[in-house]
Amino acid sequence: MVTGELEDRVRAVLEAHWREPGFTVPNARVYPWQWLWDSCFHAVIWAALGEGDRGRAELVSLFARQHATGFVPHLVYWDGFTGHASLWGRERTSSITQPPLYGHAVAELVRRGVDIPESVTEAASDGLRHLAHWRPRSAGLVPVVHPWETGCDDSPRWDRWLDGPWDADAWRVRKGDLVATIERSPGGAPSANAGFRVAPAGFNALVAWNARELASVTGEEALLALADELVDALEDRWDADLVTWTDPGDGADTSGRVRTADALLPLLVTRDPARAAAALAALVDEAGLGAPFGPRGVDRREPAHQPRTYWRGPAWPQLTYLLWLAARAHGAADVADRLGAALVGGAVTSGLAEYWDADDGTGLGAVPQSWAGLALVVAQG
Ligand code: GLC
Repeated sequence: MVTGELEDRVRAVLEAHWREPGFTVPNARVYPWQWLWDSCFHAVIWAALGEGDRGRAELVSLFARQHATGFVPHLVYWDGFTGHASLWGRERTSSITQPPLYGHAVAELVRRGVDIPESVTEAASDGLRHLAHWRPRSAGLVPVVHPWETGCDDSPRWDRWLDGPWDADAWRVRKGDLVATIERSPGGAPSANAGFRVAPAGFNALVAWNARELASVTGEEALLALADELVDALEDRWDADLVTWTDPGDGADTSGRVRTADALLPLLVTRDPARAAAALAALVDEAGLGAPFGPRGVDRREPAHQPRTYWRGPAWPQLTYLLWLAARAHGAADVADRLGAALVGGAVTSGLAEYWDADDGTGLGAVPQSWAGLALVVAQG
């Protein structure tokens, strides 16, 4: 497919998903609200479509419900929906966060010549500093308080927190229960969860990388220092035998070592070229994560691998995009080309799906899903 055709399809989907006061829903039926990391990816896609104003609006609306302490909720219910109020203990937003992709979104929009108001760069900086200061670290890393905060909701990395073998229904119930044990700081922002103690490598890589991305715009030393602290701590989590970064916390010796694509996100920040080379090779190794429309979300050699089950094996466009950026940053043009082709091929074959079968591109989850438009960013190079 030529880029022009892909661009038309991505534009049509994002237009159909555009809502007031200026954001894009991931999918009109399954995901009808504003999600944090989705919105950051949408901002980049809008910029790639030449619609920088919409990209900026996406970030402005995302920060509209930020706490004074910097906390950014992962869901905003702009349509007045209150059906989740008892789960979150509040109306209008959720009370947990998601990977702070706003550092990248701000930097990418600025690189593309979009004017970003100081209020947005300050809000993004406050959001990152909130994570650094309000969450007691575990092995030097920022903990998450719930699987949903990672964006990788049903990853086998969290299997340690389910009694018995993994099962989608049992895990759904468990995820609901885990909200109840979240501990909160004054003001209501989440700080810890004794029922879910983990500081995931993937989440921390995204905090560090977004801090660096934002600092590339603002020059803020504190953000660079935060990134350095997290990168140092991540270097201690490398497992050379498994070729993955592992998660400190209660699952450190069990599910915290399962080989997943998101656990290779420290590729975005690692300073160790040998580790980077090993992780990049793992992404395209067809014995494990590599696949024509991949990388797989979970290494096929893992007992937990299920090729079509949500977060247990399919390929995810937003992860492939991030790993493509990492491969390019490491100068690994061959790996970047393979990941880029897999993302574009998967997006087209799946009909711009939420996620897809890594072997044949069959669309899975919500279709169409706005973030599959990241394929356009890759196609444009
Ligand atoms: C699913 C994904 C999450 C995403 C949301 C909206 O819950 O696991 O990462 O943000 O859908 O697309």
